[in-house]
Amino acid sequence: MIKTIATTPYSDQKPGTSGLRKRVTHFQQTNYVENFIQALFDSLPDKDGETLVIGGDGRFFNDTVIQIAIRMAAANGFGKVIVGQGGVLSTPGASHIIRHYNASGGIVLSASHNPGGPDGDFGIKYNGTNGGPAAEKITDAVYARSKEITQYKTVDTPDIDLSTIGVETVAGMSVEIIDPVADYAALMETLFDFDAIAAMFASGFRMQFDAMHAVTGPYAKAIIEGRLGAPAGTVINAVPLPDFGGGHPDPNLVHAKDLYDLLMGADAPDFGAASDGDGDRNLIIGRNRFVTPSDSLALLAANAHLAPGYSRGIAGIARSMPTSAAADRVAEKLGIEMHETPTGWKFFGNLLDAGRVTICGEESAGTGSDHVREKDGVWAVLLWLNILAVRKQSVDEIVREHWATYGRNYYSRHDYEEVDAEAANRLMADLRAKLPELKANGLAGRQIVLADDFAYSDPVDGSQTNGQGIRIGFADGSRIVFRLSGTGTVGATLRVYIERYEPADGDHDRETQEALSDLIVLADEVAEIKARTGRDVPTVIT
Ligand code: G6P
Ligand code: ZN
Repeated sequence: MIKTIATTPYSDQKPGTSGLRKRVTHFQQTNYVENFIQALFDSLPDKDGETLVIGGDGRFFNDTVIQIAIRMAAANGFGKVIVGQGGVLSTPGASHIIRHYNASGGIVLSASHNPGGPDGDFGIKYNGTNGGPAAEKITDAVYARSKEITQYKTVDTPDIDLSTIGVETVAGMSVEIIDPVADYAALMETLFDFDAIAAMFASGFRMQFDAMHAVTGPYAKAIIEGRLGAPAGTVINAVPLPDFGGGHPDPNLVHAKDLYDLLMGADAPDFGAASDGDGDRNLIIGRNRFVTPSDSLALLAANAHLAPGYSRGIAGIARSMPTSAAADRVAEKLGIEMHETPTGWKFFGNLLDAGRVTICGEESAGTGSDHVREKDGVWAVLLWLNILAVRKQSVDEIVREHWATYGRNYYSRHDYEEVDAEAANRLMADLRAKLPELKANGLAGRQIVLADDFAYSDPVDGSQTNGQGIRIGFADGSRIVFRLSGTGTVGATLRVYIERYEPADGDHDRETQEALSDLIVLADEVAEIKARTGRDVPTVIT
C-alpha cells in the first residue's frame, strides 16, 4: 500500500525558533507540506514502531495537514500515532501527551499568536521525546534534507474520522484519537489544590478567562468551569475557530483590550486572564492591577510553594535575558539557582531536564515549569488561582506586598516594528562598537557596570550561543537592552527593553513610562534610534 511519490525540493524550509512558520497559501504549494514532513521523518533516528503525537491549535489547514501527516507516518514505519480529537492539542497539552505516553516525539501544528484563516499563518513544529521543541541539531538536519529531497512516502487510504474518540488502523499503523483535555486536566489536578480553588469560586470569586476563539477554550471550559465549578460564562470566546473569529489571538493589552477594560472598570471581576492561539502564552490582570509577565514570573516563583505540586520548594528559576530581574531577587532570597538564557523557550529545556530549574519565564508572556517542556498559559492561570485561594488576598495586594518585600522593577518594552533591516542591523553594529567606550566612560554621568552583547554558555551541555542582544547596565540596577526580534516577518523589529529598580522602601506607585522616562531618553541618545529608524515613537509599548 505504500506509495513513493517524486517531488522537487523547496529552498525555504528552514525551521525558526518555533518550527516552520509561513502563510497558509505558502504551505498550500504543491507538496510543500509533504516535503517538509518527509525531510523531518528522514532526520529522525527512530521511527520503526515508535509512537508519534499529532495535534494543533485548530487553525485553518490543521485538518488537511493532519491527514497528510497520519498517512506519511504510516508509510514511514511509525507503529502508532496519537491524535487529539478534532485534531486539537494545545502546545503545552501536546508536550504533556508526548511525555505521558512515552512517544518518540510529536508534530505540533500552529502559528502561535499569529492570525489564522485562509490568508493567515500556519506552522509545523517538531517536539522531541522530552516534549520540548527539537534541538537545533535536528532542525538543521531537517533543513538540509529539505533542500535535497526527491521523494516522499505515503499510503493510499481514505481520511481518518478525527471526531470520534477511539482506535482506528491506517495501513497497519494504529491511530488513537484521544480527548485532548483529559490527560492534561489530570496533570493539573496533581499540581494544584483544586478543592481550595473550587471553594474560592463557590464563595463568590469572579473571573473572566478569554480563550480568544483559540485552543484553550476546551481546556479552560473543562477545568475552570467544569472541575473547579466557576459559573458558566467565566470562560468567553471558548469555541476554537479556524480563523479565531477574525481576531488576533495574542493575549496582550492591544488584542485583549476588552478584557483589560473590564478589569479596570467599575464592575470588575476579581481576576482576568487570557491565552494565545496555541495555549502557551498568558495574560494576567487583577481587578485594577495589570501584572507584567516579568513580575508574574517573580510572583509565581515566590509563591509556588503554596501549590501542592511545588510544596517542597523550587530548584531554581530561569528567565530570558530581556525579562526583568524581578525573579533574580526571589532566587537570591530563596537561595536557589538563577539562570539568564537567550530569548526562546528551547533554551530552558536542558536546565529543566537536568533538574536545575523548576520555573521559567519570558517577558513575551510565557511562563511554565518542569511539568512539561513548553510554556503553559492555563498552568500559569491555575497557579495564580491556587495562590489567590490560599492567600485570600486580591491580586493588587499580593503584587504590592511583593514589591514591598523585594522592591519593584519598573519595566517596559518599546518596539519599533517593520523598520528598514539594514538600518536596524547598522544601529546594532554601531552600538556594539561603542560598548568598550561606554563601559570606560559611563553615559550622561552615570556609571555603567555592564556593557556587552549577551552570550550564553549552556551549563548542561556546554553549547555556546552568541549575539543575543546588547545589555547596558547601570550601577543602580537599571538596565537598557537592545535586541532585534527573531519572529518579525517584515523588515526588522527593534526591541528596546527598559528597566529601573526601585528598592523595597521606595515609591512603587509611579506610572511606568514616567518612572522610566530618563532611561528612555538615554536609550535613544546612545543608539540614535530616532535618527536611524526615522521613527519618533515606538509602534508598540508594552
Ligand atoms: C516566540 C517564542 C518565545 C520567545 C518569543 C520572542 O514566541 O516561543 O519563546 O520569547 O518568540 O520573540 P521575539 O520576536 O522577541 O524574538
Ligand atoms: Zn503560542
